[in-house]
Amino acid sequence: MNNHFILNNGVEIPSIGYGTWQTPQEKAADCVAYAIEKGYRHIDTAACYENEVGVGKGVRDSGIDRREIFVTSKVWNTHRGYQKTLAAFEKTMNDLALDYLDLYLIHWPASFSQYENWEEINLETWRALIELYRAGKVRAIGVSNFLPSHLAALMQTEIKPMVNQIEFHPGFMQSEVAKYCQSNGITVEAWSPLGTGRVLENAVLKELADKYGKFVAQICIRWCLQNDVIPLPKSVTPKRIVENLDVYDFEISKDDIKLINALPYIGGSGLHPDKVRF
Ligand code: A2P
Repeated sequence: MNNHFILNNGVEIPSIGYGTWQTPQEKAADCVAYAIEKGYRHIDTAACYENEVGVGKGVRDSGIDRREIFVTSKVWNTHRGYQKTLAAFEKTMNDLALDYLDLYLIHWPASFSQYENWEEINLETWRALIELYRAGKVRAIGVSNFLPSHLAALMQTEIKPMVNQIEFHPGFMQSEVAKYCQSNGITVEAWSPLGTGRVLENAVLKELADKYGKFVAQICIRWCLQNDVIPLPKSVTPKRIVENLDVYDFEISKDDIKLINALPYIGGSGLHPDKVRF
């Protein structure tokens, strides 16, 4: 198992990212610096997490060469459209206080339930990302929470997304979305790979954890990797931060992967890209 994936533009991306959703600004710098100290080389944030100042400080304070750390951020829904997205990017870069981003994502698609011209809005936002990519300000661009119906228009542009970051955890693996992306050269990333903690008490996963001598969280993270998906586990707890990276010394058998893939819904965010009201 490699410790990195290769995006469709040839850029290397470390195969486990440190998630920071719900990490408060005041804790972010210490958590991120600690995660980097413990071996993470991939940090995921977003404008709407309101912790970019701390995340950027953590990256800078880590003492590790910036080029060795893969940093992702995302444009929030209030800044869709060409000009607004460019402005949002400037704000993100000021807050992070970094010279460039490794990956910039559209956080959520505009959808038909909120906008008649949703496809046009997504295309305009996407054009801004292409512009930033061409200008060398970001090394890769992509989307988050896009279903194939949202991706279709973007696939017709001169640069197709390199990443789609979706909710992905046992009991909710969005197989159709993941397969569509993977068969079109779009790398899938998993937000909430632990179901925001909800899947950790599942009996089947607990049994598998015992079988492999690992924690349930590690089973979930390894399961993502074996499905060719990049997990972004979030934790502010030192022991767990270390634990979540310690998944390269075992392999889940094909049959057990199938067993996890077949788990019924055991909880998730409940957020559907075509139904959310934000
Ligand atoms: P905390 O941040 O307090 O350590 P997800 O990545 O799916 O969103 O899940 C994040 C949630 O799971 C957080 O509440 C986090 O708690 C918890 N968590 C993260 N890693 C582990 C772990 N190894 N064991 C148990 N809980 C974990």
